Amino acid sequence: MRFLALIASCVYLASAKILQNGQVRITDYPDTTIPSIAGHNSSWRTYPRNARELSYKGRWDDNYISWWTAPGLKFGFQGSQVAVAFGNNTSPEVLIAYRVGGLDWQLTNVSAGTTHLLADSQATGFDSGTTQTFEVRVTNWDYGVQIQNVYVASGRLVQIPDFRRRIEIVGDSLSAGQYATLEGIASYSWGLAYGLGNTEFSITAYPGMCAYDGNGGYCYGGGPRQRGQEHQWLKVSDNSERAVAMYGNSKNTIHVMKNEGSLSDPPNYNFRAHPPADITIINLGANDSGQNVSDEQFFNAYTKLIDEIRRQWPRTQFIILNLWHFTQSGSTWITDSPLDNVIQNVARHYNRGSLNENGGQGIVHYFNTTGILEHNDISPAGHPTDVADVKLASHLMQYIKLVFGWDLEQEGPEVQHQTTYWNDEVNY
Ligand SMILES: *[C@@H]1O[C@H](CO)[C@@H](O)[C@H](O)[C@H]1NC(C)=O
Ligand SMILES: *[C@@H]1O[C@H](CO)[C@@H](O)[C@H](O)[C@H]1NC(C)=O
Ligand SMILES: *[C@@H]1O[C@H](CO)[C@@H](O)[C@H](O)[C@H]1NC(C)=O
Ligand SMILES: *[C@@H]1O[C@H](CO)[C@@H](O)[C@H](O)[C@H]1NC(C)=O
Ligand SMILES: *[C@@H]1O[C@H](CO)[C@@H](O)[C@H](O)[C@H]1NC(C)=O
Ligand SMILES: *[C@@H]1O[C@H](CO)[C@@H](O)[C@H](O)[C@H]1NC(C)=O
Repeated sequence: MRFLALIASCVYLASAKILQNGQVRITDYPDTTIPSIAGHNSSWRTYPRNARELSYKGRWDDNYISWWTAPGLKFGFQGSQVAVAFGNNTSPEVLIAYRVGGLDWQLTNVSAGTTHLLADSQATGFDSGTTQTFEVRVTNWDYGVQIQNVYVASGRLVQIPDFRRRIEIVGDSLSAGQYATLEGIASYSWGLAYGLGNTEFSITAYPGMCAYDGNGGYCYGGGPRQRGQEHQWLKVSDNSERAVAMYGNSKNTIHVMKNEGSLSDPPNYNFRAHPPADITIINLGANDSGQNVSDEQFFNAYTKLIDEIRRQWPRTQFIILNLWHFTQSGSTWITDSPLDNVIQNVARHYNRGSLNENGGQGIVHYFNTTGILEHNDISPAGHPTDVADVKLASHLMQYIKLVFGWDLEQEGPEVQHQTTYWNDEVNY
C-alpha cells in the first residue's frame, strides 16, 4: 500500500497546481495547438525529426523521446513561423519552455499527436530574413516529449554549431528542481548551466535517486523502483514509470526492502555519439542518507560513479556538492548532514587527502555550500526555494569562473523565468 501511495503522490506532484506561499500560481498558458500541417499547406517546409539541422540537448533515445530533467531541442531557422509536431510517446499536457534567440521563455502545454505553432515573426517581432535560433525545453523530469516533425513557414532550417563548453549535472530531486515553481527550468542546475552562457548541458537528475545501487537500489522516486546513479547514469533513460512502460522488463522484477516493482531496462547511453562534459557536477546523498545506506556503501557507490564517468570522459573535472540539512540548535539553526563527511572523503580519495576546494591539481573539487544556503532557503517540502536555487547557481557560476577560468559569457537573455518579484509600493 505504501508503494502505491508513493506512486500516486509522485504522479500527483507532477501535475499538481503550483502554490506560491499558499496562492495558486496561474498556469493557464496560451494554447499553441494548430491543425496538422503535413501535406496540407505548401508554404510550410517539413523536416523529419532526424534532420541534421536539429540538435538534441540532454538525453534522448533512438525514437526521439526525451528523458531525465529539462532535455531540449535547438536549431537555427530563417522563416516567418516555426511549428513542432509531437509524437505519440509524448506525455499528457507536458509543460514546455520555448523561445526564439534570447527572448524571454514562453510556456505552453503539449500532448501526444499535436502540432504547435511556437514562433511567429509577426507576433514576436523577429526578422524572418536572418538566421534565428529556436530552442524548446521540457520543464519536468517525469514527463517527456517525442519529436515527430519540425516545420518552417516560408523558409528553411539552418544547422547551428554547439557551444564549445559543456557541463553535466548528476543528481536527485535537488538537482531536478523538484518543488521549485517551474521545476527543471527553475532548478539551480538550470540557473548554473544557462547562467554560465554559451554552455551545452545535460541534467541527469531524477527525484529520489541515491548514488548507491546495492540490491537493485534502495531508493525510490517517481517509478516503482529507483536504481542508484552508479547504475542509471550510464543509461539513456531514468527509471520513471514512463521508462518502465517503455523499457520495462518483467524478468527484472525485484523484491527487496519495502517496495516491489518492475525496473526499466533501457539501453546504455551512447557516449561515443556525444562530446564529453568538461565539468561534471554531482549532488547526491540526500536520498542515500534517508534510506539506510551505510557510509561504506555510499563511499563505494560515489567513487564507482566517478570512476564510471571518468571511463567515459577521461578529462572531465568534478565538482561534488556537500549536503545541507538544517536543524534547530538552541536559539539558532545549524547544518547537520549525516553523509557530508563521506563526501569529503570522496574528494580526499582523489586528491591525496585534500578537499581541493580552490582548484588544486586534483580532478575532484569539494564545493562547500555552508554559508550560502540558510535554513529558510529550504522550503517546507524539504527542497531549495526558488531563491535558494538562484543563490546556489550564482555561487557555482562564480566558483567555476574562479577555479576553471570560464568567463560568464551571457549578456542579458532571460535565465530564470517568472522570478520578477519586487516591491511596487513607493509610499509606505
Ligand atoms: C499556410 O501557412 C501560411 C504560414 O503560416 C499561412 O500564412 C497561410 O494562410 C496558410 N495557408 C492556408 C491555406 O492555410
Ligand atoms: C499515433 O497514434 C495515432 C492514433 O492511435 C495513429 O493513428 C498514428 O498512426 C500514430 N502515429 C505514429 C507515428 O505512430
Ligand atoms: C500545464 O502544465 C502545468 C505544469 O505541469 C500544469 O500545472 C497545468 O495544469 C498544465 N495545463 C494544462 C491545460 O494541462
Ligand atoms: C530524497 O531527498 C529529499 C531531499 O532531502 C527528501 O526530501 C526526500 O524525502 C528523499 N526521498 C527519499 C525517497 O528518500
Ligand atoms: C539498516 O541497515 C542495517 C545494516 O544493514 C540493518 O541492520 C538495519 O535493520 C537497517 N534498518 C532499516 C530500518 O532498514
Ligand atoms: C565549510 O564551510 C564552513 C563555513 O566556512 C566551515 O566551517 C567548514 O569547515 C567547511 N567545511 C569543510 C569540510 O571545509
